[in-house]
Amino acid sequence: MIHPVILAGGSGTRLWPLSRELYPKQLLKLVTENTMLQDTLLRLTGIAELGAPIVVCNENHRFMVAEQIRALGLNHADIILEPVGRNTAPAAAVAALRALSSGNDPLLLILPADHFIRDTAVFHRALQTGVRFAEQDRLVTFGIVPETPETGYGYIKKGRALDEPGPDKNSIAVAIDRFAEKPDLDTAVAYIDSGDYCWNSGMFLFRAKTLVQEMENWVPEIVAACKHALAKGKKDLDFFRLDCGAFEACPSDSIDYAVMEKTARGVMIPLQAGWSDLGSWEALWQAGTKDAHDNVVQGDVLLHDVGNSYLRADSRLVAAVGLKDHIVVETADAVLISPRSEVQDVRSLVDKLKKAR
Ligand code: GDD
Ligand code: MG
Repeated sequence: MIHPVILAGGSGTRLWPLSRELYPKQLLKLVTENTMLQDTLLRLTGIAELGAPIVVCNENHRFMVAEQIRALGLNHADIILEPVGRNTAPAAAVAALRALSSGNDPLLLILPADHFIRDTAVFHRALQTGVRFAEQDRLVTFGIVPETPETGYGYIKKGRALDEPGPDKNSIAVAIDRFAEKPDLDTAVAYIDSGDYCWNSGMFLFRAKTLVQEMENWVPEIVAACKHALAKGKKDLDFFRLDCGAFEACPSDSIDYAVMEKTARGVMIPLQAGWSDLGSWEALWQAGTKDAHDNVVQGDVLLHDVGNSYLRADSRLVAAVGLKDHIVVETADAVLISPRSEVQDVRSLVDKLKKAR
């Protein structure tokens, strides 16, 4: 049995003004008619022996999360509520400990709730390869065969090959040499030129017990805090609330740093499936369906002589003339306008906004 564990606790500040603390990226409809959270679950349709999803999110988002899952007709999701964000390692640990408490040791497929994958069939084949390794008590991570020197992603250096070549080019499972989180541009260019690196997707597959054993080895304080937060936690309607004080006391760390970088049981499966984490408006332009002038348009938008741009109108008509390579995002209370090449700096804008208000 494979239980998807959906990590839905992030905030996605680079997609301001659409994503806000109370309305983060994973709960928005960005590329399809479904939200990112819903697409993450729908993408798994067709996988054999799929168990009920475990969703880990912030307590402030509980009703939106529950409603979006219910709208898909999924009635058995286990929704675990975090009182505060402690990054991905504690989120995965509470999911694994809860899965083990049922007396089984299922495979857990950890999926961030904010990814786009164009080619689901390739993704499913990579999962099948992953299952082979995870069943041998390995910790599998999916690395993305990189296309550009992205500085918004972490990188994983490939180690020795662990498998025979499969049906997908470049998808031979390898050992993990090391992680490098969000490098500067020169370093990223060097990584791409070397051909030795994949982007870190943040998707993992392992047995619940394998993860807990490795975490007990490398970050025992996180496991202890998560056990405590679960033991003192409470069922609330359809949700499970982690105990606030116990979870607040948990150290904050990502799965990558807490476990994957340290373990000798790591395996990386390279994936070439049109993946993006849609972390910026530029990524949304790239993933979106283009019109004849390479514009991606959403909502009530009127254009004349506009090209290579992303334009989104949520509450009013947006009209543009003579615009090239720009991002325009209109919402009821804020409008963003930026050249596509500089849109990563929206993060700095959000920081300024937080200080000013
Ligand atoms: N439940 C929970 N709790 N989920 C969390 C938390 C938390 O405290 N923090 C983050 N998440 C979820 C987010 O919702 C998102 O789905 C995922 O974990 C990754 O967090 P992000 O905040 O989006 O991280 P990032 O995009 O800056 O970087 C990570 O992901 C990249 C790929 O998308 C890193 O792992 C990079 O190395 C990686 O390339
Ligand atoms: Mg992200």
